[in-house]
Amino acid sequence: MMTAKVFVSRRIPEAALELLGKSFKFELNERDVQLSKKQLIRRIADKEGLICLLTDRIDREVLESNPSLKVVSNVAVGFDNIDVKAATARKIMVTNTPGVLTETTADLAWALLLASARRICEAERFTRAGRFKGWGIMMLLGNDVYGKTLGICGLGRIGRAVARRALGFGLRILYTDQVRAEESVERELKTAYVDKDTLLRESDFVTLHMPLLPETRHYISTRELNLMKKTAHLVNSSRGPIVDERSLAVALKKKTIAGAALDVYEEEPKINPALLKLENVVLMPHIGSASVETRTKMATMAVENCIAALSGKKPPNLVNPEVLQD
Ligand code: DGY
Repeated sequence: MMTAKVFVSRRIPEAALELLGKSFKFELNERDVQLSKKQLIRRIADKEGLICLLTDRIDREVLESNPSLKVVSNVAVGFDNIDVKAATARKIMVTNTPGVLTETTADLAWALLLASARRICEAERFTRAGRFKGWGIMMLLGNDVYGKTLGICGLGRIGRAVARRALGFGLRILYTDQVRAEESVERELKTAYVDKDTLLRESDFVTLHMPLLPETRHYISTRELNLMKKTAHLVNSSRGPIVDERSLAVALKKKTIAGAALDVYEEEPKINPALLKLENVVLMPHIGSASVETRTKMATMAVENCIAALSGKKPPNLVNPEVLQD
């Protein structure tokens, strides 16, 4: 057992805790509730490692509170909850969990797309409310998916996994991204690169798969929603602030677009109250990677990153490799 100590900010799958316990002493936030900044600072005070979740805001103040902190290991692929610049300035390693949640998140994006297109959640509410009085030819009509056009914003790992599934649905696939993918990828996924506005104008389903960066905040707002087809659906399983929720609620109410499905929100866990009143939006509680298998893999990967960092090795998923340069 090595001497460094680790703090784990919330309960994570047991297999990952067992692995951590084999190498380091650790302390767990047993209450499994979100800690305030003050509590977090207090709990990490004598630790070299922190394993945290995307709900923990690891800002400059938290990072500067403990001069012996060596690694912040996020149990998520996204790391917009961590001030990486501040961590790098203090030579603190930051790690994430890419790859293991790709397929699970792509499945959820598809579940959202289908739910929005076929009004699944609305129909379920209808049935449970005892309103199903018999088959109706005009009842709960949605939109077809087969043969339509899918627009993928961000053709990274998850965007590509979404595209692969789209092939089975016979969709025409468009994508837009900061950087164009290699020709072989475009060929394999039968996807065509277009600019953002063309994608929005031509797609029946627009799905977002980009990281949250200053330049992607409100990537979808009133202008973009106005470019979309009246019959189109928007899917967001990336990060909430990428969509301007207020504009989306207006567009859904005015039927500027047909529907939307969201797994993430601008100020989680708050949801814009206007959205809660609408039938044509599917609202999920950020469950993109929420399968037993994937959450176990994510937590294990975060532990492996933490163990490597505290053992003097380069963690496999280091997001700020500059910290290791002299
Ligand atoms: C991530 O890893 O960034 C996901 O949002 C977790 O579900």
